[in-house]
Amino acid sequence: MFDRILITGGAGFIGSHLAEYSLKKGKEVTIIDNLSRTDYNIKYLQENYKNLKFVQGDIRDSKVFNGLMDDIDLIYHCAAQVAVTTSLENPRLDYESNADGTFNLCESLRNSKSDASIVFCSTNKVYGDLNLRILEKGSRYEYRDIQGIDETYSLETNCPYGGSKIISEWILDTFHKSFGIKSTKARMSCIYGTRQFGNEDQGWVAWFTIATILGKKITIYGDGKQIRDILYITDQNNAFESLAKNIDKTKGKAYNLGGGPKNTISLFELLNLINELTGKRSEIIRDNWRMGDQKVYVSDISKIRKEVGWEPVVGVKEGVKNLVEWVTNNKSALGQ
Ligand SMILES: NC(=O)c1ccc[n+]([C@@H]2O[C@H](COP(=O)([O-])OP(=O)(O)OC[C@H]3O[C@@H](n4cnc5c(N)ncnc54)[C@H](O)[C@@H]3O)[C@@H](O)[C@H]2O)c1
Repeated sequence: MFDRILITGGAGFIGSHLAEYSLKKGKEVTIIDNLSRTDYNIKYLQENYKNLKFVQGDIRDSKVFNGLMDDIDLIYHCAAQVAVTTSLENPRLDYESNADGTFNLCESLRNSKSDASIVFCSTNKVYGDLNLRILEKGSRYEYRDIQGIDETYSLETNCPYGGSKIISEWILDTFHKSFGIKSTKARMSCIYGTRQFGNEDQGWVAWFTIATILGKKITIYGDGKQIRDILYITDQNNAFESLAKNIDKTKGKAYNLGGGPKNTISLFELLNLINELTGKRSEIIRDNWRMGDQKVYVSDISKIRKEVGWEPVVGVKEGVKNLVEWVTNNKSALGQ
């Protein structure tokens, strides 16, 4: 059905896993990436797989798509400026990468012969502060009245990154309604896994694991009781494939995607789990809350479960154990 797949940001964490997942199934994969994060994942894919074409380029430049679209059946749109912190320091970079980049992709697809579908990496940050009633319970916060956030909450922004992702969603919706370009949006919570080069600004589960194993200090902003639902990367791959396969049902819609209420963890709980698995603990530095940090974010994943029959199968302990093993065996890739 989808034999030829284009992945923007395919050298990144999520994009490179989608690439490997697709290549293992015999698909032809084209990756566009400017390698602004790391070249580790593209080298890994090139060393291990044949049906891969790599274009080093920037989606802020519409010409990057020239000659690539006509033969494509499916696009996973992952390239983006990914950090809230960077978006506050450099909103132009954020806007141009995310909003202009998405426009360039849609417009190039419109001008091509292809009728490819797009699955887009959106984010829970499109819901802004949420300001829901919250309970403090031991080592974590919880929502007081609900289990998780569903897709009926209105879109609001509290940082440039949230804003540029909302604009990206609107661009996709506009091209769908006006020109019939099929797209669906995954509003993702926290995705984690192997080959994730997490740092203090983005990818906190990977960052805490890497820092602990490499003996680096960890700064906790706020009180460490903030919780997230976390989703292991292999479950994320399956979710994206399901959204694409069911595009006639999922087009024009958004789906919250995360580990859901069964897979939540607070910052301190994660540090304790990593300690349990490695016997190590980093020195902790305490600092104030950062702008745009939500105390609680848990996805309600009922909609994606009901509409495409997807749900996560890898629990928090199993996923973090896999990540710990990967970091332990790949210290040199992580700068040690
Ligand atoms: N990891 C998460 O928990 C999470 C959560 C919500 C949303 N997302 C979204 O998922 C997508 C993938 O995130 P990730 O965690 O894999 O991040 P990542 O940084 O590992 O991957 C992003 C990739 O995009 C590339 N890129 C950035 N700007 C580009 C540009 N202008 N042109 C071409 N390539 C460019 C980078 O080089 C990188 O390889 C992003 O859109 C991100 O906003 C991720």
